[in-house]
Formats: sequence, C-alpha cells, structure tokens
Amino acid sequence: MNILITGGAGYIGSHTVVELLENGHSVVVYDNYSNSSNESIKRVEKIVNTSILLEEGDIRNRDRLREVFTAHKIEAVIHFAGLKAVGESVEQPLRYYDNNVGGSVALLEVMEEFGCKKFVFSSSATVYGDPHTVPITEDFPLSATNPYGQSKLFVEEILRDLSTSDDAWQIILLRYFNPVGAHKSGTIGEDPNGIPNNLMPFISQTAVGKREYLSVFGDDYDTKDGSGVRDYIHVVDLANAHFKAIEKINSVEKVATINLGTGNGYSVIEMVKAFEEASGKKVPYKTAPRRAGDIAECYADPKYAKEFLGWEATRGIKEMCEDAWRWQSQNPQGY
Ligand code: NAD
Ligand code: WQD
Repeated sequence: MNILITGGAGYIGSHTVVELLENGHSVVVYDNYSNSSNESIKRVEKIVNTSILLEEGDIRNRDRLREVFTAHKIEAVIHFAGLKAVGESVEQPLRYYDNNVGGSVALLEVMEEFGCKKFVFSSSATVYGDPHTVPITEDFPLSATNPYGQSKLFVEEILRDLSTSDDAWQIILLRYFNPVGAHKSGTIGEDPNGIPNNLMPFISQTAVGKREYLSVFGDDYDTKDGSGVRDYIHVVDLANAHFKAIEKINSVEKVATINLGTGNGYSVIEMVKAFEEASGKKVPYKTAPRRAGDIAECYADPKYAKEFLGWEATRGIKEMCEDAWRWQSQNPQGY
C-alpha cells in the first residue's frame, strides 16, 4: 500500500517507516519538523538503503495536504503528527487543541475530498485517565486529566462520529502504553527537546552524564516498591504493530480500538536497575514528591491486539534498555 505518514520524522514515526519499507509498503512522510528534523529520515534511508519521499508541511494546512494527495496516490494514512508534552499542554491548551484536534480535522477533511478513508491513529493509554484496576482492556471508561489527553479523546470521538456518518471509513485507534528503546542500529531514537519529561530519556541522559541524577517521583504508591508502575513497550514492537494494522485495515468495520502494550508492569526503580545492568553505568537517583496528575499503576491487557492484529510484543526490558543505551551513547547530543 502507498501510505502517508504524518509525523514520520518523529520518534515512533521514523521507526514505523523502517518497518513498513522493510515489509514491502511504500510511504510518503509528511512533517513540519516542529519536534524533529529531516536527519532522522536521512538515517532511515541508510537503514533501509533506499530514498524516501519527504513532503514538508503542516497537517493544519489543507492546501499543502491537497498538493500532496494530488501528487501521490495515497491509499491510507498513519497519523502520528501531534504535540505530546503533558505539562506544556496545561500551559498552552489552545496550541494543543489547534495542532492535535484542528490538525486532525483538516487532515480528515482532505482525505475525504480525495476518497481516502483508511486511517490509523496514534492514541494513548492516557485516555484511560486513572484506571479503576489493571490490566486495562479497551472497554474501560475513558477520561482525560490534561489538554493533551483531552485532545486524544476528542480525536477518538471525532473518528467514531465520522465512521457513523459514512461506512466507507476504516479506522484503527492504537492506544500506546509507554514507548521506549530504539532501532538496533543505534542510529535512530528518541531525541527530546530540553529536559526530558519522560522516564527513559531522563534515565539514559543521566547514564551518559548529561543529568546529575534522576528524581523518582513518589515512593509511597501502593505498588511493589512504592514507585510508579508502567507498561514499557519497545518502539520497534510498536512500529511492527502499525505494519500489522495496515495489513488488517481492509477488514475493519468502522473503528477498531487496540491497546499496544506488553501486559507487564515495571516500576521506576526496576527500570533504573535494568538500565544500569544494560549500560554498565550508574544512574544516581533521589526520591522526590509525587508528580501532579501521575497514577500508581498502568499496564495493558494486550489480548485483543493478539486476537485482532496477530501481534504481540516480543522485546523485554533488557532489550529496551540495551537499545536505548546504544542510541544514547552513540548520539549523546541527539540528531
Ligand atoms: P514526536 O514528537 O517524536 O513525533 C511527532 C512528529 O509530528 C514530529 O516529527 C513533529 O515534528 C510532527 N508534527 C507535530 N505537529 C505537526 C503538524 N502540525 N504538522 C506536521 N507535523 C507535525 O512524537 P512521538 O513520540 O513519535 O509520537 C507520535 C504520536 O504518538 C503522537 O501523536 C503522540 O501523541 C502519540 N503518542 C506518543 C507516546 C509517547 O510516549 N511517545 C505515547 C502515546 C501516544
Ligand atoms: C513514567 C513513570 C513517573 C520521569 C506519559 C504521558 C502519556 C504518554 C507517555 C503520550 C511515572 C516516573 C518520570 C522522571 C520519574 N505519552 N518518572 N521521574 O507519565 O506514564 O506517561 O508519557 O501519550 O500520555 O502522560 O510516562 O515516562 O513520564 O513516567 O520518576 O523524571 O516514571 O512518575 O511513574 P507517563 P513518563
């Protein structure tokens, strides 16, 4: 299939481009580089040994999207483009709603104009809010505690409404748990701007000496060791799930909603220890107060992904940490 990858220069997008090209699909990457650069795509070209069609543009720019849909026969869209920093979304809600919700609406309108109605959306486990129990199945109640999460929920609802209005749409909502790790080559990976908000990039920057110590947000949760528990999933497993989603999209009736996680929960302290073992470096840490909005435990029930996509995660935390370390140590300043 010929697939438009919005946000394809970003962390998950770039790994997915590798996976799709290695499995015989063709792609057009569409990105405004607001949180990336074309260096990631240059590196993907080296991995797959072929050149990649790259179209610079913003998903809110309908005219630019029309040019791209006119120039390339797009059969499906995987929509990664979006802003993703929770704290920033609280400070700049309009920017987040404009980019994530407005941008998705513009993209869907242009797709409709061109009769392209196969759509895979990057949603998030954040749409489960504070889950009443774990593991989380896809039918759990949905809620959001910040504008970022709300933007994901809105787009999910827009997509459900769209499919009700027109049976021809085939939509897959992928709810990612906590993506970490990097491609085996160590040439592409996560490259956050400034001080990382997320645990894994903070740990790896501490291990490489860019940060003095990690603050462990909370040691009094009702979890195995008091620190927060999450479902970390290797980004290459996640990328592979997008390939499986594309393989299945023709059989989707309306909207399929799928958790992408491993089903295993690891604590912050367990991740620190696993990273120390994988890297051979010390990761100094100090206990700090709980971070506002954090929940104690969050991990997926991954059964439906196996049933519907025939997909399950195969990489454990050792591999996640080894691969994250290879990327971090080979690229201490990122791209
Ligand atoms: P990323 O920031 O690395 O990638 C997003 C890409 O989208 C970037 O290349 C950015 O330049 C581009 N972009 C942003 N706004 C755009 C716009 N208006 N027009 C065109 N391009 C635009 O983030 P990521 O981690 O690869 O996340 C990809 C998607 O997955 C996002 O939608 C994110 O919300 C979602 N998601 C991420 C995580 C995570 O922890 N990384 C978890 C759940 C869901
Ligand atoms: C993981 C654990 C922290 C940093 C966020 C978004 C979610 C999704 C993924 C996009 C928690 C602890 C963290 C640090 C720490 N993104 N931690 N010290 O909060 O599960 O999810 O990213 O959709 O929407 O909310 O991920 O990596 O920030 O935190 O102790 O410096 O690590 O408290 O227990 P989170 P995270």
